[in-house]
Amino acid sequence: MTATKGLEGIVATTSSISSIIDGVLTYRGIDIDDLAEHASFEEVVYLLWYGKLPNKSELEQLHADLSASAPVADSVIQQLKLYPKNTNSMAALRSAVSALALYDEEANDMSPAANLRKAIRLQAQLPTIVAAFARIREGKEPIAPKAGVSVSYNFLYMLTGNDPEPIAVEALDKALVLHADHELNASTFAARVTVATLSDIYSGVTSAIGALKGPLHGGANEAVMAMLEEIGTSSDVEAYINNKLANKEKIMGFGHRVYKNGDPRAKHLQKMSRELGKITNNMNWYDMSIKIEELVTGQKGLKPNVDFYSASVYTSLEIPRDLFTPIFAISRVSGWTAHILEQYENNRLIRPRAEYTGPVNQKYVPIESR
Ligand code: ACO
Repeated sequence: MTATKGLEGIVATTSSISSIIDGVLTYRGIDIDDLAEHASFEEVVYLLWYGKLPNKSELEQLHADLSASAPVADSVIQQLKLYPKNTNSMAALRSAVSALALYDEEANDMSPAANLRKAIRLQAQLPTIVAAFARIREGKEPIAPKAGVSVSYNFLYMLTGNDPEPIAVEALDKALVLHADHELNASTFAARVTVATLSDIYSGVTSAIGALKGPLHGGANEAVMAMLEEIGTSSDVEAYINNKLANKEKIMGFGHRVYKNGDPRAKHLQKMSRELGKITNNMNWYDMSIKIEELVTGQKGLKPNVDFYSASVYTSLEIPRDLFTPIFAISRVSGWTAHILEQYENNRLIRPRAEYTGPVNQKYVPIESR
């Protein structure tokens, strides 16, 4: 038995949800470029769960279900108020999502219909939790979700209490479309491993949030913004990046395990970053990002991934840096739940082997002799 470090190149499951073939990402066979251009996030959620685009009445029904499920149990909101104010926002989300299960009467109902209803509730309630936590830690009261608006609109509304500008809703919606699913990424794999024991959907999503939190996965978008803030201006980019590369340090937001010729999602966010920079009259983050890309791609051949330009997009939307990864979760929960439902449909315990590299032929030594 020989291990493959990081399971690189290992095909661990079959799935009909999303694919990356020759660098092209599709959801249910539809190119991400097509979806980024034309689809709303809710259409994508439907596509991931049901395997087809919704017709008008199916989409209206999904909007209505998400709207009706968006309020979060008061007990969970009360718990958020007890978390230390400086709690990491992903740790808060992980804990609150785990707590949601305690107040869901269907938490342990494993029927497909109940699991789909729980998927809707999770998709609807993650944005409410993230926005509520963001306000509570600033000493403000959470804002109840608004009925009859999209997930993107509602999230921005619950964060600020103001009706968002159409361009802000459009930008966030595009980001949610682009982050919704990504084949067997680390957090989705974590979710599938968890539910393959026939554990419940809340356990699966809680595992996934824990996996997404790390800076080699979803946490990279926050790390990108921290880097941009640390550099400060375009004129300081070159010295900073050259120094990092000379020290063999990683530049966050670059590289990918699967895409070696570039992440197809990055260009859409780059375009949005430029548009928002113009609208907000602040091109600094975009200009710095372009310069970083030129240097890193030029010197290392590494291309930006989805996290790189999402940092400047969210900053232009005045979203606090430590909410970037929770926003990733707000979107990816659609993919996690689609994969969890698919895993349940055709389940087998996921239990790989390890190549043993420890000592052999050891004897137990009594404690007095150690
Ligand atoms: N900056 C500088 N060098 C890099 C980077 C980077 N961002 N990414 C990879 N490399 C280099 C590595 O140092 C390594 O060089 P070496 O062979 O000389 O040692 C080589 O490229 C291969 O890198 P690995 O880390 O082994 O590649 P792996 O496939 O394991 O990792 C990963 C992929 C984690 C995305 C990596 O590129 C990385 O750490 N990037 C920065 C973090 C990041 O942006 N993560 C988000 C990924 S997308 C997502 O999850 C949504």
